Amino acid sequence: MAIRLGHALALLVTLMALGSVARADDGYRLWLRYDPLPAANREVYRARVRAIVAPGNSPTIAAAREELRDGCSGLLGQPIPLTDNFESEGVILLGTPQTSKEVAALHLEGQLAALGPEGFIIRAVRLKTRQIIVIAAQGEAGALYGAFRFLRLLQTLGPIDRLNVSERPRLQLRVLDHWDNLDGSIERGYAGQSLWNWSDLPDKIDPRLRDYARANASIGINGATLNNVNANAQVLTADYLRKVAAIAGVFRPYGIRIYLSARFSAPIEIGGLPTADPMDPEVAAWWRKKADEIYRVIPDFGGFLVKANSEGQPGPRTYNRTHADGANMLAAAVAPHQGVVIWRAFVYDAKPGYDRASAAYAELQPFDGKFAPNVLLQVKNGPIDYQPREPFHPLFGAMPRTQVIPEFQITQEYLGWSNHLAFLAPMWREFFDSDTFAKGPGSTVTKVADGSLYHQKITGIAGVANTGSDRNWTGHHFAQANWYAFGRLAWNPEVSSEQIAREWIAMTLTHDAQAGQTIARLMLESHEAVVDYMTPLGLHHLFWGGHHYGPAPWWDREKREDWNPVYFHRAAADGIGFDRTATGSNNVAQYHAPVRDRFANLDSCPEKFLLWFHHVPWDYRLHSQRTLWDEMGLHYQRGVDWVRGARKSWDSLKGIIDDQRLEAVAAKLAIQERDAIAWRDACLLYFQTFSKRPLPAGVEKPLKTLEEYKAKSLLEIDSAVH
Ligand code: GCU
Repeated sequence: MAIRLGHALALLVTLMALGSVARADDGYRLWLRYDPLPAANREVYRARVRAIVAPGNSPTIAAAREELRDGCSGLLGQPIPLTDNFESEGVILLGTPQTSKEVAALHLEGQLAALGPEGFIIRAVRLKTRQIIVIAAQGEAGALYGAFRFLRLLQTLGPIDRLNVSERPRLQLRVLDHWDNLDGSIERGYAGQSLWNWSDLPDKIDPRLRDYARANASIGINGATLNNVNANAQVLTADYLRKVAAIAGVFRPYGIRIYLSARFSAPIEIGGLPTADPMDPEVAAWWRKKADEIYRVIPDFGGFLVKANSEGQPGPRTYNRTHADGANMLAAAVAPHQGVVIWRAFVYDAKPGYDRASAAYAELQPFDGKFAPNVLLQVKNGPIDYQPREPFHPLFGAMPRTQVIPEFQITQEYLGWSNHLAFLAPMWREFFDSDTFAKGPGSTVTKVADGSLYHQKITGIAGVANTGSDRNWTGHHFAQANWYAFGRLAWNPEVSSEQIAREWIAMTLTHDAQAGQTIARLMLESHEAVVDYMTPLGLHHLFWGGHHYGPAPWWDREKREDWNPVYFHRAAADGIGFDRTATGSNNVAQYHAPVRDRFANLDSCPEKFLLWFHHVPWDYRLHSQRTLWDEMGLHYQRGVDWVRGARKSWDSLKGIIDDQRLEAVAAKLAIQERDAIAWRDACLLYFQTFSKRPLPAGVEKPLKTLEEYKAKSLLEIDSAVH
């Protein structure tokens, strides 16, 4: 018996080493899991990947080399040594023409130059008599990206025999914006505390920072803004800059530059000046000196991110100056160092009767062509505020002489925090694929962003990070996929959601084909399901005030009317929705024809944006021939049903996904179902007070009364949600 038990144990250990048994996993490794691949694939790869030649002493080449060695060894289940001889078949050669004479001997310079310093080639070639795989780039960052790309090929079980890959990023600045406060808290963060331990820095550096950098580099992210856009000027003091420099030191080998959110009034707060007026020469001189100081300690500092005159933040308007005055003054300070200023377009000063969706365009579009060449204008994907669904922001395609870059929110402020499974690639795809018609048909947002429409010098994109100190980085295991998706789309805004989901699943969860199919379906359907149970048919901002978790369509207590759900949905006896056509705010006029006409016309307006652009009677017939009220009810129900189905599908993966992650996700899905029901009930019960119609057949009876839903937010009901 003892022998048989021992035998079984040995077998189990072997199986586990082979990765064929689902082990416990806390998710820390993200998609960079280098466990042995399925045996059949391993065998094929082993013949072609036997040793690594990656000469060079620079930190970036060292990082690429180490990653390749660890990755290949882990995935192939045997040590893949570093070597400097080409005697064996199956060498992986990595480098630039400068770091490796073998790479130089391949005479790829022309091709590498065309791919730029971050691009790379991965190719099966003959070197003398040997068949090798070369990962070559013009710059070291490109070589690092190539190494990660090669590992992804293995992780996703791709063919490597006739390799011929060449890639370059389509957008230049691919930045994660952290809304981290200096006290360690994170604004809209749902995965623990800040990863930057300011009190330990610069002397003690958390080794986790390197893993953060690896993860970002693996998907091509090349910038990180460390602090909240609602900025504390202290981060610009000498003390903090030393700490920032220490972080920069960890990120640098991974090609990641640091940006800081600059508080516009910093010259007053930490500079002792009486004003922050951008036209005051002393103010401009202060910023120039500050920039010089920053670049002395962080020579590759990326630049400043600025939220000005928005939601109480100081800015040039405080001094009757324009946004362009403010941005250009800061831009002049960083220009000698090749830095940039990223000016946020999230500005909306309430005026009586105005439409918040039109505000940023009204304030900024007139300044097209007035910004300095090193200013980028960072615009949220939609005109309100990261809602589960918004039409694209009208500033895309409206500022041909301005470097407009998109801002996504990866952290799920309005999408169920880190409790709801909502894969955001389809939402971002919808945005990128939107046709602005700015220069006729085919003027997609992608083309605005990647510079092909207006040929701006600098392109970029930012995503508000969803990372934190939680062991699995993002709270929900599936929220890791949104970080991944952001990076992939920043690299190539044309990659499909399915492709992103498939890659991520194979790298992170399983190689099991059927399970992969199930998980991909869940991911690809999830965003629409969240829209269904939160804000279907163009509804928006129905969230509980302040924390934005859970429904509160009745909310009318904010000090600003444009923060209240009642301002946005306008439900009344005659119908529901915000009239943004010519009979209302005329926000549609900010879009080019024929987009504008398509949105403005009730018949041609896509139903997903119906109540965004129109105030519609409750009995209005939709394409389904059902009334608006009935259709709304069925959308809410459909969202709930989807979560129930998702729970079943997920549970069916037991034994394929490790128990630890299986259970963690199952627990989150249970919360999601509870929340979806609350959303359905609270919204329908409340809107019913105006529609005065019964719930349509197929919609379940509410679990609680409207008064009960009004009494407590979802956060107060259950501490497990926090
Ligand atoms: C949202 C969010 C704020 C944030 C703001 C911004 O409104 O709720 O916390 O500061 O966006 O993007 O600046």
